[in-house]
Amino acid sequence: MSFSRVDGALCVEQLSLGALAAQYATPLYVYSRAALTANYLAFDQAFSFIDHQVCFAVKSNSNIGVLGVLARLGAGFDIVSGGELERVLAAGGEPAKIVFSGLGKTEQEIERALKLGIACFNVESAAELVRIDQVAQRLGLRAPVSLRVNPDVDAQTHPYISTGLKENKFGIPNDTVYEIYATAASLKGIEVVGIDCHIGSQLTTTTPFHDALDKIIEMINTLKTQGITLKHIDIGGGLGVTYRDETPPTPAEYAAALRPALQALGLKVYMEPGRAISANAGVLLTTVDMLKPTTYRNFALVDAAMNDLIRPSLYSAWMDIQPVAKPRHDDVKVWDLVGPVCESTDFIGKERELALEAGDVLAVMGAGAYGFVMASNYNTRARAAEVMVDGDQAYVVRQREIVNELWALESLVP
Ligand code: LLP
Repeated sequence: MSFSRVDGALCVEQLSLGALAAQYATPLYVYSRAALTANYLAFDQAFSFIDHQVCFAVKSNSNIGVLGVLARLGAGFDIVSGGELERVLAAGGEPAKIVFSGLGKTEQEIERALKLGIACFNVESAAELVRIDQVAQRLGLRAPVSLRVNPDVDAQTHPYISTGLKENKFGIPNDTVYEIYATAASLKGIEVVGIDCHIGSQLTTTTPFHDALDKIIEMINTLKTQGITLKHIDIGGGLGVTYRDETPPTPAEYAAALRPALQALGLKVYMEPGRAISANAGVLLTTVDMLKPTTYRNFALVDAAMNDLIRPSLYSAWMDIQPVAKPRHDDVKVWDLVGPVCESTDFIGKERELALEAGDVLAVMGAGAYGFVMASNYNTRARAAEVMVDGDQAYVVRQREIVNELWALESLVP
């Protein structure tokens, strides 16, 4: 695909990652425009059998360079905050293709989105519904709304990224769905347009998606008998990617599994994929700063830390780590790749067989999703730069932060 090895050198499209590291320094996020495009089009084409809108989950990668590439392909966006809304606008995204997910939307966020004319608010509680109704009525508008239902399906993924079980804080539980739809239908500021669900992230089989869809179709049919007819169904995001040896369905397989049910339903289909579009379109480059072999473990200190990429620390996520160039010797050892942050959980990868030397550049693969977006300034570390590669061109889509800007908003007390 867009990342491949040419004569031992790991390349992104037509550029070598080693050269990018030398030019822009590390830690550095590098994205491939071709990969983003291919991943987006894979969804768009897979669902071409039905009226649909792919809404990229902005939370997975919100760089405006990334969003801009997708907007130009016709992507819609799934947002979870007013901040993400402004990013989408800055990137040239169309409000009419935005769905607004997330618990706890504020009045200001609702007002801004309503005035812009977004496609839908995915509502997560009765209280939120009332809030949206009040804002809409005050503005003399009607808010297009879906209820995000919680179908109580086990996504069989990491518990921290599973969202569709009744004990999760997300969505409206089965037992109150009809009551809240009835309320929604009675509110002057609300126009009921759809139904929505998102059961979790990094799903590697189609079964949970299928089970959730079956449950939602049942709900849609019951709603019909209550006189509530919907225009669309939003099937959420969650399709997984290969980090190690997972074999997730492709977007085409995912679409094929849902196709009979969706066709029978005949509603417009929205979807909110994030990871499956952005993860393998990006890598994090890091340089081995020094080696610290000990009697117990071999540590390679790298210049990317948990503040740059928190997935290994937070979810024990395994991410593939590859040298960008041919090793300079063949003394392979088992290394723990650790960052300089003062936490024992600060690691990028553990027990990796590599022939390392200080100065080597490594690529953490699959880092395009939930990478930079989850970065922090912990330990007063400036966040990495981000570069987008397009063919033989590289564009800085976010400059490296400058340390003294990190306290620019702070002040001393008099
Ligand atoms: N829609 C909703 C309502 C969501 O909550 C999410 C992700 C998505 C769509 C996109 O899911 P995706 O297609 O990317 O799986 N930080 C974690 C992942 C958290 C996902 C949160 N919600 C990680 O690094 O694995």
